[in-house]
Amino acid sequence: MDHHQVGEYWNDNAEAWTRLSRAGYDIYRDHINTPAFFDLLPDVRGLTGLDIGCGEGHNTRLLARRGARVHGVDISDIFIRHARDHEASEPLGIEYQVASAVDLPCPREHFDFATGFMSFMDVPETGRMVAEAFRVLKPGGFLQFSISHPCFSTPHRRNMRDRSGRTYAIEVGEYFRELGGECEEWIFHSAPAQLRAGLPKFKTPRFTRTVSSWMNLLIDAGFTIERLHEPRPSDEVVRACPSLQDAQVVAYFLHVRVRKPGG
Ligand SMILES: C[S@@+](CC[C@H](N)C(=O)[O-])C[C@H]1O[C@@H](n2cnc3c(N)ncnc32)[C@H](O)[C@@H]1O
Repeated sequence: MDHHQVGEYWNDNAEAWTRLSRAGYDIYRDHINTPAFFDLLPDVRGLTGLDIGCGEGHNTRLLARRGARVHGVDISDIFIRHARDHEASEPLGIEYQVASAVDLPCPREHFDFATGFMSFMDVPETGRMVAEAFRVLKPGGFLQFSISHPCFSTPHRRNMRDRSGRTYAIEVGEYFRELGGECEEWIFHSAPAQLRAGLPKFKTPRFTRTVSSWMNLLIDAGFTIERLHEPRPSDEVVRACPSLQDAQVVAYFLHVRVRKPGG
């Protein structure tokens, strides 16, 4: 499966995804991933940034609100339409464009930084994507992205729960088997059953790589690894949103910041 075919799946997911995530049901994003990503992010005030795989623009808008001039790209034209509609009603100066991460319509050495919020693991041509991010960054610019954690989002994974329903372990396996686009069907489980019943399930092709494979791709592209982070919800967050408890057992996400030398 190549990036064009993956893009078709995401385009089919885009209407329901936008509706549910804007209604607050992407709880792992809103309560764990996005706050941790922004805690790790250097100051972007006055910088020019590219958000790769921006979806309907939720995190792109947060970058703009932090004072960056942002350009968002996504392979799905439906996501980009929703992002542009939002920009038209609440302008933040963001430009959105339909484009693939492996073929960015941007000049070389143009951006001070680039981001990828939970989009990089959806691109099968990982090496080409990383090389593209490197090309469009200015020397000294950084790339920060989040992905499902390779060690705990393995082809085999099962939550082990006690009698009360509390997850106490995650069984993982087949870490070294790199998935090549096997489709998973799912939907945000925190959405009310009635709402979920009226919407198609997401179909997301999965691609897995080992940690060393990810790190070596970044190093081979010329990046210097600057920071890694494995976010988890605090006890306070879990008290407010108990279904996030499983994300305290292992790291569900991996955040990576790398820098292009020079500048
Ligand atoms: C899990 S969603 C994340 C969306 C958004 N970044 C967020 O945090 O809400 C993954 C996104 O990656 C996009 N995507 C998948 N393959 C892509 C590619 N080759 N180029 C650009 N975007 C891609 C999908 O269309 C989707 O919007």
